[in-house]
Amino acid sequence: MDFELKSLSPTQAAQLACDALLVLVPDARPAVEGTDALSQLVARVNKAGDLEAGVAKLLACYRPEGFKAARVCLVRAGDGSAASVRKAVAAGVGALRQPGVQRLGLVLSLMDSSDASVRAAVQAAADATYTFTTTKPSAKARSLRHVVLGVNQPASVRQGFETGKAVVSGVEFAKEWANRPANHATPSMLADAARKLGRHASIKTEVLGPKQVEALGMGSFLAVAKGSAEPLRFIVMQYSGGAKSSAPVVLVGKGITFDTGGISIKPAAEMDEMKFDMGGAASVLGTFAALAELQPAINVVGLIPSCENMPDGLAVKPGDVVTSMSGQTIEILNTDAEGRLILCDALTYAARFKPRSVVDIATLTGACVIALGGVRSGLFSPRDDLAQALQAAGDAAQDLCWRMPLDDEYAEGLKSNFADMGNVAGRAGGAITAAKFLQKFANDLPWAHLDIAGTAWKGGAAKGSTGRPVPLLLQYLIDQAALDAATSKPKKATTGRTRKA
Ligand code: BES
Ligand code: MN
Ligand code: ZN
Repeated sequence: MDFELKSLSPTQAAQLACDALLVLVPDARPAVEGTDALSQLVARVNKAGDLEAGVAKLLACYRPEGFKAARVCLVRAGDGSAASVRKAVAAGVGALRQPGVQRLGLVLSLMDSSDASVRAAVQAAADATYTFTTTKPSAKARSLRHVVLGVNQPASVRQGFETGKAVVSGVEFAKEWANRPANHATPSMLADAARKLGRHASIKTEVLGPKQVEALGMGSFLAVAKGSAEPLRFIVMQYSGGAKSSAPVVLVGKGITFDTGGISIKPAAEMDEMKFDMGGAASVLGTFAALAELQPAINVVGLIPSCENMPDGLAVKPGDVVTSMSGQTIEILNTDAEGRLILCDALTYAARFKPRSVVDIATLTGACVIALGGVRSGLFSPRDDLAQALQAAGDAAQDLCWRMPLDDEYAEGLKSNFADMGNVAGRAGGAITAAKFLQKFANDLPWAHLDIAGTAWKGGAAKGSTGRPVPLLLQYLIDQAALDAATSKPKKATTGRTRKA
């Protein structure tokens, strides 16, 4: 979908040639009503009380006088905040999702727009029209092709607009791979997608197979892959946007392309949804796609351990003990707690990049779905600064997370008589005990873990990937790049300029 950012006064908005016009109407009324057709329509509606205050209330008009567009839809945008704009655009674009609507005018000119609200509008419009067609070509790609975003001062929100478009690319890349059924998204296919991203000048991709992973001593990752006929892949991507000496952020994505549970097999109901168990990996790929487009000045490494978790004669068995790359031994008490078993070796591998931070992203536990539902991802980190930076990035990008505790007492249940640790504790606090397991491999790395089991996809009638947490991750990386720029500036100023006394 193309987006165009344009200066549109209310008068120009009414005259815009498009199939439908979606006008965001803030609750606050203007001090002086304009005399153009749009301002007059809104004034009449406000006076009659025909569009309730609040967010996402809709009023659809057909061929109202003074407008070029046949369909004009007014939608309440409350206080005009990014969160309100997002809800309003989602509802409005959803309502206008009809075959005849190819070109949409999205009018933000009746309110003050900001980088954040423009970005929210772009993301919500793309989200409301996304369609997966790879294995269902008959679903026909969305009919909405072109969105003209009308604001009062395009220059002041250009950055939000560009970021929004990059986020959309990243989110749609992640959705595409996460939505693919497991037979269309094997570890080898994910690796091919990563290799393709490596064609961008700023991205390098390397793919390791079983032999190399064995040579690295990743006994824990290897154990999970043992039951599958599909060979494992360990994907290493590097985006170079910053100075060579600048320490990278490492993103580690869980890439289980299908999770049957292995010998500790899952019940049949909804097992199909375990094709989404590579949502963390998809979010790393999507973030790299967005980086290639946005080119922020930062270095980023993406690590994706990817395999299937299958039951088989060769599969790892409950009680088996394996040696991880870190040297720590693990008693695999439940083969369905496989995510932590592939991530732990990737975390050990991450240390070689001397990273400024390591963030793993994983559909790790059903317990996190119980704790936080589908609204916020679980955020775990022993570092307050890193946790705050990620939480703030999520807030800014409208991709929320919530910090969870990591008290050492939560690790008690991981004790084993036969290995350095077991891979599961009891049912209580399952999302936290999983994070405590990972923490044993993060050592002194500045590490954070995002459990996206509840947020990476939706079930039911709207079944599909959400592309989360690409918006959060990209925002975090943009924030880190900005931080670098701010701290390196004073140096430049003193060396580059001669000061007058
Ligand atoms: N991929 C699942 C987690 C999951 C389950 C995500 C349901 C979304 C919905 C993970 O590999 C898993 O099976 N975790 C187990 C861990 C348990 C055996 C300690 C779980 O959550 O039940
Ligand atoms: Mn599992
Ligand atoms: Zn899993």
